[in-house]
Amino acid sequence: MLDNRGFDLWANGYDKSVELCEEDNEYPFAGYKDVLGTIYNIIHKKEKIRILDIGFGTGILTKKLYDDGYEIYGIDFSERMIEIAKEKMPLAKLIQYDFSKGLPKGMGNIEFDYIISTYAMHHLEDKDKIKFINKLNERLSRDGEIIIGDIAFETRELLEQCKINTGEWDDGEVYFVFDELKEIFPKGNIIFTPISHCAGVIQIKKIY
Ligand SMILES: C[S@@+](CC[C@H](N)C(=O)[O-])C[C@H]1O[C@@H](n2cnc3c(N)ncnc32)[C@H](O)[C@@H]1O
Repeated sequence: MLDNRGFDLWANGYDKSVELCEEDNEYPFAGYKDVLGTIYNIIHKKEKIRILDIGFGTGILTKKLYDDGYEIYGIDFSERMIEIAKEKMPLAKLIQYDFSKGLPKGMGNIEFDYIISTYAMHHLEDKDKIKFINKLNERLSRDGEIIIGDIAFETRELLEQCKINTGEWDDGEVYFVFDELKEIFPKGNIIFTPISHCAGVIQIKKIY
C-alpha cells in the first residue's frame, strides 16, 4: 500500500498510467472514466452546491465540478497531488490530511451536499471504512449523499474471480464488496452500480 511519499512519486505520471490501464480494460482501472462520469452525471443535475472530495489526487473529477461552479473542498495526504490539483483549482479548499485519522479539525462543522471519493478509500480496512463513512455521514447536509467510485464488486465471489484472472493483484488494498457493505446500512439508503469487471459506484444517502 502506498504512503503519501509513494503518491508524491506517482503524481506526475498518474493521469497517463490510469489512462493506459483504462484503455486496456484491465484491473485496477478498468471502467475508470465511466466511474468518474457516472458520479459527475449524478451531481451535475443539481444546483451550485458544496462538495468534499476525499483523496482527490490530480483532481480529474473535481476539476470538472470546479469548472461548473461548485464549491470544492478536498482532503489528500500527498503534497505533490495537492500541488497539481491546486494549479487546476486555485480557489478550491484543498487540505493536506491523512483520512485514516478521520476528518481534519480545521474543517469546523461545514456541511456538504455531496461527499465523493474515487479510488482512495480502498486504502482503509473494511471496519475503518465503515467508521469513516459514519463520520462522513455526520457532515452531510439534509438529503446529502456520499458517492464512492472505486474498485468494487457486488459479491466476494466476483472479487475472487477477478483476483484469479488478474496477473498483478494488490493484496495490500481492501476492495469494497457491496453485499457485505449493504448489511451495515439501512435498506434503501445504499445502492450499487457496477461499472466494469472490477469497478462500481456506491451511493449512500444521509442516514438519520
Ligand atoms: C489512486 S489515487 C485517486 C485519485 C483520484 N481520486 C482519482 O480518482 O483519480 C488515490 C489518492 O488518495 C490519496 N490517499 C490515499 N490514502 C490516503 C489517506 N490515508 N489520506 C489522504 N489521502 C490519501 C492519495 O494521495 C491519492 O491522491
